[in-house]
Amino acid sequence: MGSGLFKRKPYELLMEEMKGENRLRRILGPVGLTSLGVGAIVGTGIFVLTGVAAADKAGPALILSFCLAGVACVFAALCYAEFASMVPVAGSAYTYAYATLGELLAWIIGWDLILEYAVASATVAHGWSQYFQNLIGIFDIHLPKGITRAPFDFNPATGLLTGTGTAFDLPAVIITIIITLILVKGIRESVTFNATMVAIKLVIVLFVIAVGAFYINTDNWVPFAPFGYTGIAFFGKTLIGQTGLNGEPLGMFAGAAMIFFAYIGFDSVSTHAEEAKNPSKDVPIGIIASLLICTVLYIAVSAVITGMVPYNKINIDAPVSDAFMQVGLPWAQFLIALGALTGITSVLLVMMLSQPRVFLAMARDGLVPPSIFGAIHPKFRTPWKSTILTGIFVGTLAALLPLRILAELVNIGTLLAFVIVCSAVLIMRRTHPDAKRPFRAPFVPLVPILGIIFCVLLMFALPSENWLRLLAWLLIGFVIYFLYGRRHSVMSKWRPPLPVDNEK
Ligand code: ALA
Repeated sequence: MGSGLFKRKPYELLMEEMKGENRLRRILGPVGLTSLGVGAIVGTGIFVLTGVAAADKAGPALILSFCLAGVACVFAALCYAEFASMVPVAGSAYTYAYATLGELLAWIIGWDLILEYAVASATVAHGWSQYFQNLIGIFDIHLPKGITRAPFDFNPATGLLTGTGTAFDLPAVIITIIITLILVKGIRESVTFNATMVAIKLVIVLFVIAVGAFYINTDNWVPFAPFGYTGIAFFGKTLIGQTGLNGEPLGMFAGAAMIFFAYIGFDSVSTHAEEAKNPSKDVPIGIIASLLICTVLYIAVSAVITGMVPYNKINIDAPVSDAFMQVGLPWAQFLIALGALTGITSVLLVMMLSQPRVFLAMARDGLVPPSIFGAIHPKFRTPWKSTILTGIFVGTLAALLPLRILAELVNIGTLLAFVIVCSAVLIMRRTHPDAKRPFRAPFVPLVPILGIIFCVLLMFALPSENWLRLLAWLLIGFVIYFLYGRRHSVMSKWRPPLPVDNEK
């Protein structure tokens, strides 16, 4: 193996690049960034996956699952914030890995981030479709069955994949097309659009908590952990906790591994570093503030929903709005479905905004074709070609693959990205102890090490076939890297100016 595989992008070169031409416009302040974070976080996870996770994995102990996943994310967020303040360029974890762990690992993480952003977008589009159908259902309007969901799904009762009798998910495809068009036009419009939607969804979430609290029946919290407090498996063998029909782990940890999806998105703030007015200060604020706001809201919402409805009667398609229907508040169901729809739209917007920005960073390094992924629209100043390609990819997945399978794949991929970022902080502190760190993660090495431990535990709390899917995904990535990226890498041709740089 050539040394080029592990060649690191010098920190100094990153700083140099930031001064170059062809950059994105700097228009985002701390409030705009936090709003982008909340926009990316509160969506399908809380509004849809809460139902599956409570009904099949954790019961009311889902409240603790939210605490656990939140803690794992706080450790990772502190590491992201340190990096984002040091290297405030588009590309997020990919760029951090390039600076610390070398090209091959940077490629792996860039490839892995496609799971986090593009595949997550497809998952989110499904959630949108479910709430859309829930909303029109209130008016007794129903779409023809063949276009309501993916053609197959996982059936927890049998533990098998079964046909759903449908062809594809049309509403998910339509919303993907709309968002793609908005994003091609430009971020300024997107930010205003996003801020409005974030405000609406926060009001709805607060409404759910404030009104739902009056309908909590504490009997519904008994038994509190019907599937136990654990749920960890090792490649198909449940180590601690109960096991489901197809061998997947059940319990509070398993619930946390599923609703981890609800937290994904805070790190997308770091992909907008290049558009931040004062990136080294505002990006860490955006990351941490949005994560903390959402953690508090999630714990409250999960307490309310599991308190309103017995866990085994929670609806798995639109659990939050349906809970209000079940306690006899149909008008609230309408309001919540509308709010959820708006909220999920804003998640889709930010996720689909982030993916092309990661591609942009990879294209600048020559790892993906710059003529497509590096192209900035002359008038709109957006990475338009890669936005359209992302839209096509997301739309296809959303049309054909089921929500639960997509969500688990996204979770394992994102957890891996978090593990790499936490490791990269540890490495960077050793290799560049004196680099300027406007934000420093506290208690290093404890915080990154705890981040790694929590994320790995959650990876083992997912059904084990996800490891195989992750591996298959990474293998495809390797093939592309060796066929394209390695040959076109800008770094492999880059020579340090004299006097000789001490990067090795
Ligand atoms: N956290 C985002 C959501 O729940 C991805 O939709």
